[in-house]
Amino acid sequence: MRFGLLFLAALTVFAPLAAHSTPSPRPTPTHAIEAEIEAKVSALLAQMTLEEKVGQLNFPSYAFPREPQIEAVKQGRIGAMLNVAHPDHVQVFEEAARASRLKIPMLFAIDSIHSFHIAFPTPIAWAATWRPELAERATEAIGRETAQIGVNLTFAPMVDISRDPRWGRVIEGAGEDPYLASAFSAARVRGYHKGGLATAAKHFVGYGAPEGGRDYNGAQISNAELFDRYIPPFKAAIDAGTETVMASFNTVNGVPVTANHRLLTGVLKERLGFDGLVMSDFAAVKELVNHGVAADLSEAAQKAIHAGIDLDMEGKAFTNHLADNVRAGRVPMSEIDAAVRRVLRVKYRMGLFPDSPGGVRKVPPAMPEAAVRKTARAVARESFVLLKNNGATLPITPQSGTVALIGAAALSTNDHSWYGPAGLEKPVTETLRDALGGRIGKDQKLLFAEGFADGCGQAFGDKEKALETARAADVVVLVLAEDCAASGEGVSRTHLGLTGVQGEMLDALAKVGKPIALVLETGRPLALTDVSEKVASLLIAWHPGTEGRTALAEVLVGEFAPSGKLPMTFPRSVGQVPISYDDLPTSRPSTGDRFTTGYVDEKPTPLYPFGHGLSYTTFRYSGLKISAPEVSRAGTVDIQVDIQNTGSRGGQEVVQLYTRQLVASRSRPMRELKGFKKIGLAPGEKETVRFSVKASDLVFHDDDGKPVMEPGKFSVFVGGSSVADLEGAFTIRRD
Ligand code: NOJ
Repeated sequence: MRFGLLFLAALTVFAPLAAHSTPSPRPTPTHAIEAEIEAKVSALLAQMTLEEKVGQLNFPSYAFPREPQIEAVKQGRIGAMLNVAHPDHVQVFEEAARASRLKIPMLFAIDSIHSFHIAFPTPIAWAATWRPELAERATEAIGRETAQIGVNLTFAPMVDISRDPRWGRVIEGAGEDPYLASAFSAARVRGYHKGGLATAAKHFVGYGAPEGGRDYNGAQISNAELFDRYIPPFKAAIDAGTETVMASFNTVNGVPVTANHRLLTGVLKERLGFDGLVMSDFAAVKELVNHGVAADLSEAAQKAIHAGIDLDMEGKAFTNHLADNVRAGRVPMSEIDAAVRRVLRVKYRMGLFPDSPGGVRKVPPAMPEAAVRKTARAVARESFVLLKNNGATLPITPQSGTVALIGAAALSTNDHSWYGPAGLEKPVTETLRDALGGRIGKDQKLLFAEGFADGCGQAFGDKEKALETARAADVVVLVLAEDCAASGEGVSRTHLGLTGVQGEMLDALAKVGKPIALVLETGRPLALTDVSEKVASLLIAWHPGTEGRTALAEVLVGEFAPSGKLPMTFPRSVGQVPISYDDLPTSRPSTGDRFTTGYVDEKPTPLYPFGHGLSYTTFRYSGLKISAPEVSRAGTVDIQVDIQNTGSRGGQEVVQLYTRQLVASRSRPMRELKGFKKIGLAPGEKETVRFSVKASDLVFHDDDGKPVMEPGKFSVFVGGSSVADLEGAFTIRRD
């Protein structure tokens, strides 16, 4: 990392800390340690004034001028702070906390999502690798970079299931499927922990299901769906030890989550047994007034604390109104105590107090930049999804002839990092043009034209030059991107096509008649029906990060074969949205006839289904074996299948297992992912992959949200996508 002067000076203060640390940042929780923590929390609580208690629930954003906040910390009126992006910020406030009466250490939080210094691909791309261990390595690296400045909590992982690509924050999650998303949720928590950060699983719950994909809008979610689909990734994060959970902005069935006692206390704290702290999202307590469930900030504070919000992020409702509310008898002291207990418990668990049972928090040493870059490149490489590859247009080989690389995005060094640290120089990012230039055959020509649409879709440049460049080549590698803020928070879209005039550029180039390999950098699934028809190959590169364009070049020339699979369905058109692979059956399965499900003006299937992704080789599935035709409700079914690489190149394949319960008391999805494994095979090589499915993995939830396991017949499907057609069956017996 290279820092500005100020940053360097501040870092020296932290260097000795880092030098003495070991890579074991978290105390192992045991019953004895937990009991000791509870005793310490009780003792501390007994000493606290009402104002000091409320201070522990106050979580403002770092602000200039900072003197008022420094003073407030000294008075015990601020317990946590966000957007602390510089070691100096942390140090100043740590000192202030040490100067306060009870010396309670602070939480310092930041959105270290997919980047701190070196940008990794975005989390949707991690999910496309179908290798949770890569997400674990990524978050460990990001955590270690972040922890060096003294931050101790990240606002991640976002574990919202997202089934609507119009919603811009699909970029931060793991897509549409609860099984895949749960695996990534747990991996991301583990990784950040190894990196020395506590985590905030967010946004509990249903934030990824806003009506119309409009960010912040309400979600309508039945109990059955809530527990089958939206809660599992939170459960996985809790099981992995997340210290905190962030509540979501939105309403669920009409009640804002921030004021939702049933969800925050009934479900999260009681049913799921989460005993860490629950924070609001940014200003969400205050925004209860906008939601129309609180008349003013004071009532917002009452409703939020009662619902189960322990920490008020930047809402100023708790700090300004909780104490008065207690004195006036509108908020019981027991609710304040319960919230403070959770905050203190988490601070002890994190090892922030000098007498923390289980040990004081240790920051793992900084990772050399080269090692972080190596991991970032490994993640990027495996995240690219080859949706189409007619005529083996990719990889580019010496036999491909002259290559025209076209697109302003090929010159982009935008690594799409966000919420970065203050005073830190941007890392060097190789452009695709340079990366490809260094890899193309030495007797091969690489032509380049920027084209006439920039990475934001604005018209610019020389159209004729782009067309001439294409005419002079044997194959065109066209790079298009959502280089502007086209995904992320507050970026919902109604059109899911290429941005601006990029579509016109593609049309003009397609008319030249050379095969086009389109590389598309995107933060979300797009509706690419027309686009896909015009190109020979289509490679989804997501936003690949600091090492991403180098990884792209490696894959384009075949040094590595693409091995990503879609974690989210790509629709044919926006009108199909929401569309996911795990639909329920209907009374009228689609046959193309008028009175069956579907559209009169669109096919019923998506353009590219969940789980889809090609390699430069092909795989054959055979020999599906299921251990027994019947199992008991306590039993396990073992399923095995043979996969052979039938092409002439090595490659990786994600072997996917889906089940369907054929008859139950409620309609069950046509397919549900129940297992996956990524394997690498040399040409001709064959491997047997085994899965174990417990009958208890097939539980679903009823209208009241109660888990139900119903005996009956299950179909099994195994293959390389959610339309896998190798099929078998087993039955769960009544006993
Ligand atoms: C609002 C976002 O919804 C949340 O995910 C983020 O962590 C906070 N802002 C803090 O930046």
